[in-house]
Amino acid sequence: MHTYKAAPDVDVVTSTATIASFGNLAINAFVIHAAEPVLVDTGAVRESEDFMATLQSVIDPADLRWIWLTHTDFDHIGSLQRLLDENERLRVITSFLGVGIMSLAAPLPMDRVYLVNPGQTVDVGDRTLTAVRPPAFDNPITAGLQDERSGILFSSDCFGALLDEVPECAEDLSDEELRTGQVFWATVDSSWLHTVDRAVFASDLDRIRRLEPTMILSSHLPVARGSSMERLLDALAAVPDAPPFVGPDQAALEQMLAGAAG
Ligand SMILES: [Fe+2]
Ligand SMILES: [Fe+2]
Repeated sequence: MHTYKAAPDVDVVTSTATIASFGNLAINAFVIHAAEPVLVDTGAVRESEDFMATLQSVIDPADLRWIWLTHTDFDHIGSLQRLLDENERLRVITSFLGVGIMSLAAPLPMDRVYLVNPGQTVDVGDRTLTAVRPPAFDNPITAGLQDERSGILFSSDCFGALLDEVPECAEDLSDEELRTGQVFWATVDSSWLHTVDRAVFASDLDRIRRLEPTMILSSHLPVARGSSMERLLDALAAVPDAPPFVGPDQAALEQMLAGAAG
């Protein structure tokens, strides 16, 4: 796990998950150094120790005021409880459904929750953050956000890519590698895209295009400049007609285990 700068006031806290025979996936959280500092997501559950140590290299967790929880999957809630326990001023921005799901594992204190729906804003001192529903997601809780001051879009799982190697800039990937990795990830993470009405989906992609983000910070993609927006949208537009993902079945598993034993 390590950190790098996405923008003067945004740090990326990142690790890479290797998914056997499918590729590597970035798992990103972000620190927005706003007047009231914001942590966007909190890393993977099994990496909490590393995450906390790495986070401290870019901000004292006691200085954080907000966690923007884009959704409650295991690669986003890793250090949530620990951060809340250690910093009494921290509040969690999420949706009503997010509170509901967390109540089944580690209930969020209701006086420390700030509920948003898409289009609603949160004032963090020197800027407002607007909740944005990304066009692809794996969890109905999902709320990305756009920072009105910098124009950066934090897109949660949307625009993620399975890659051979994970660089720090999406622009370091060839068009082919980015597109293939993004399409594959979306068929895994948002398999419902195969059944969407193409015209409705195209207009939803337009909604994101009109946000004119200066940068796209996905939970599962290297940092992408705003100038890469069309490449990212084109790849997503191809997903409904891409081959659906089918995972290995029991016969394949037995073959893999026999191979490993051999
Ligand atoms: Fe997810
Ligand atoms: Fe994720």
